[in-house]
Amino acid sequence: MSTSKPGLEKSVTTGAGIRQAFLKFYEDKGHAILPSASLVPEDPTVLLTIAGMLPFKPIFLGQRKAPVPRATTSQKCIRTNDIENVGRTARHHTFFEMLGNFSFGDYFKEQAVAWAWELSTKVFKLDPKNLIVSVFREDDDAFAIWRDQVGVPKERIIRMDEADNFWTSCPTGPCGPCSEIYYDFHPERGDDNIDLEDDTRFIEFYNLVFMQYNRDADGNLTPLQAQNIDTGMGLERMAQILQAKPNNYETDLIFPIIKTAAEIAGVDYFAVDESAKISLKVIGDHVRSVAHMISDGITASNVGRGYILRRLIRRVVRHGRLLGIEGAFINQVAEGAIAL
Ligand code: SER
Repeated sequence: MSTSKPGLEKSVTTGAGIRQAFLKFYEDKGHAILPSASLVPEDPTVLLTIAGMLPFKPIFLGQRKAPVPRATTSQKCIRTNDIENVGRTARHHTFFEMLGNFSFGDYFKEQAVAWAWELSTKVFKLDPKNLIVSVFREDDDAFAIWRDQVGVPKERIIRMDEADNFWTSCPTGPCGPCSEIYYDFHPERGDDNIDLEDDTRFIEFYNLVFMQYNRDADGNLTPLQAQNIDTGMGLERMAQILQAKPNNYETDLIFPIIKTAAEIAGVDYFAVDESAKISLKVIGDHVRSVAHMISDGITASNVGRGYILRRLIRRVVRHGRLLGIEGAFINQVAEGAIAL
């Protein structure tokens, strides 16, 4: 097994350490630390809290006054649109924590970029040579900030289309161009023909959204009252990078759950074949969703978010059976997830 990155104290590389370091960094920059909102959103357009910005949507839309000009959160999120990829790729999850810093009409692009870089290179001590950034195709301002103020070589500032670098939580609502920071596991491969979609080389870990438009049902963009910042750093992804693991599942945020499931099944995660590994990863992922959904008051049912919960529970049971586990076992595995 690989060890954590040299130069960082172990406490900063644990999931809990990363969360704390992020929130503390932004608290020191004048942000109020707000608690994670429930997975059951106020927003009627989605069934679950799918992004760190969701609780702030009414503020971005000017429907509610911001309680503070700057906030930072670690928001529990669930997305099930890629559920079939869970366990099959290095980093698809249903449950994840999104670390975010938010500006409600306070600071904008320049400051968000500068702090994201400082946090990545000074607090998490990522080597700038391992970092590469993307900007929205037309966003010359963001390009110039990265090149002239941060000093990223222009070959490592990649312009991307709407599909990758224009962020919106839903078909309608607050949105804007974004700029993402990726970790490059193989900078020695050079800067020619960079393909940020190549997940054997790159992992996107920090998304900075320059939240400045409202999109209506016809796709028209209207400027919001204020220029806002919405960022998201995937806790599990930063843990993968700092713990030098081949995937998010083997980080301390999920692996203890996998270990419990493997013990119940009487198998060794590192020795089993690929399909059993996938089953263990699915259990590791879904049990986190299930535990957090139930603790936020969701009950299994045939409709809406209750159906999502039921589906997740069924999938855990099915993958347990595929591993040869007989009888009830979710409660035991869930205890591990709750303890984390
Ligand atoms: N809302 C953006 C995202 O989820 C940044 O937080 O990626």
